[in-house]
Amino acid sequence: MDLNGKHIVLGLTGGVACYKAAYLCRLLIKEGAQVQVVMTEAAAQFITPVTMQALSNRPVYVSQWDAREPNNMAHINLSREADAILVAPASADFMAKLLHGRADDLLSLMCLARPQETVPLLLAPAMNREMWAHPATVRNVAQLRQDGATVLGVGEGDQACGETGDGRMLEPEELLEDLIAFFQPKLLAGRRVLISAGPTYEAIDPVRGITNLSSGKMGFALARAAYEAGAQVSLVAGPVSLPTPRGAQRSNVRSALEMDAACQAQAEHADVFIATAAVADWRVAQAATQKIKKQAGSGAPTLDFVENPDILATLAAGARARSGVLYCVGFAAESQDLLAQASAKRLRKGVPLLVGNIGPATFGQDENALLLVDAHGAVEMPRNSKLVLARQLVAHIAARLPAA
Ligand code: C5P
Repeated sequence: MDLNGKHIVLGLTGGVACYKAAYLCRLLIKEGAQVQVVMTEAAAQFITPVTMQALSNRPVYVSQWDAREPNNMAHINLSREADAILVAPASADFMAKLLHGRADDLLSLMCLARPQETVPLLLAPAMNREMWAHPATVRNVAQLRQDGATVLGVGEGDQACGETGDGRMLEPEELLEDLIAFFQPKLLAGRRVLISAGPTYEAIDPVRGITNLSSGKMGFALARAAYEAGAQVSLVAGPVSLPTPRGAQRSNVRSALEMDAACQAQAEHADVFIATAAVADWRVAQAATQKIKKQAGSGAPTLDFVENPDILATLAAGARARSGVLYCVGFAAESQDLLAQASAKRLRKGVPLLVGNIGPATFGQDENALLLVDAHGAVEMPRNSKLVLARQLVAHIAARLPAA
């Protein structure tokens, strides 16, 4: 649970998106957070405090005149306990108010009274597309960021008013991911990370091909972990049906040659390359342009294979890696003797860090165990979820990078 022990003040302001805040509240709690809901009176027009109390299992605060707090200072008491205040939805009006330091309701009072150093403020805007695009809102968002608030993005699509465009509140799952990411240490801030993930598919003819059992989950978890750590992430993905991790720029490829071309192009701008992809070692020399037909009595066709380029070894041997600009990390999926195999592969690929794992124990699974091998020796990372391992691996990589 990524929010275990975190105390979150969930602020709701007036907007139709309040209905999404109910589900967000549940998600936060499922992830281990304690949630204290504070609503403006406008928010209470859209969803009742009763609903939010039932979901958060705590009394909801709406008014700064609420006498339940012994010292009658809810704005101080509630904000001092918080690890973050997340206002979702944050209306245009509420943001305009915050910007001026106004504090005529409990939530804005609390935002102003919070200790800025220890209680970060996150805003999830929600409004009509014209309101979002209005110069006043654009100006307010810029100023709020300058004042230290984290203004999250907005979604694009159908709006309650019937119009279509930017300004919807992000979905609860997206807000949850953004909040979890917010709490991760920014070990890769300012770094550009390229990740190859998934299998490749090598066509035999237009309907058949050869591939492997890589699910892409480890690479996608790394993309998420790198983004959480503040990196700009490019993800070159073979054919997998996983959703794109938030913040990652994804390029879909199919064959090893396509993956090679995409990685070569993007590595030009990368500081780190993590090769998690299970690239097919060979491709069919001449893929048939039409389906190869079964012919009675003529037996099975013979296929000739040629070797695929080794993307990792090529990038690791390139000038950018040699001069220390591009830090390359390889993976090895083995079936036994991990330390010896991974150490040999590290030298063969010419990379500073190689991550070994047991293929049959990782393919398709949500958990894995890793063995990190570098010039100084090996570190075991015991079995855990791929996301937890990815975060640990990101920390190891960050510690090995030259100072930015
Ligand atoms: O040689 P092997 O396939 O076991 O090496 C695995 C490592 O090399 C992985 O990091 C994989 O992504 C990378 N690789 C590559 N291009 C290939 C083969 C492997 O980038 N053609």
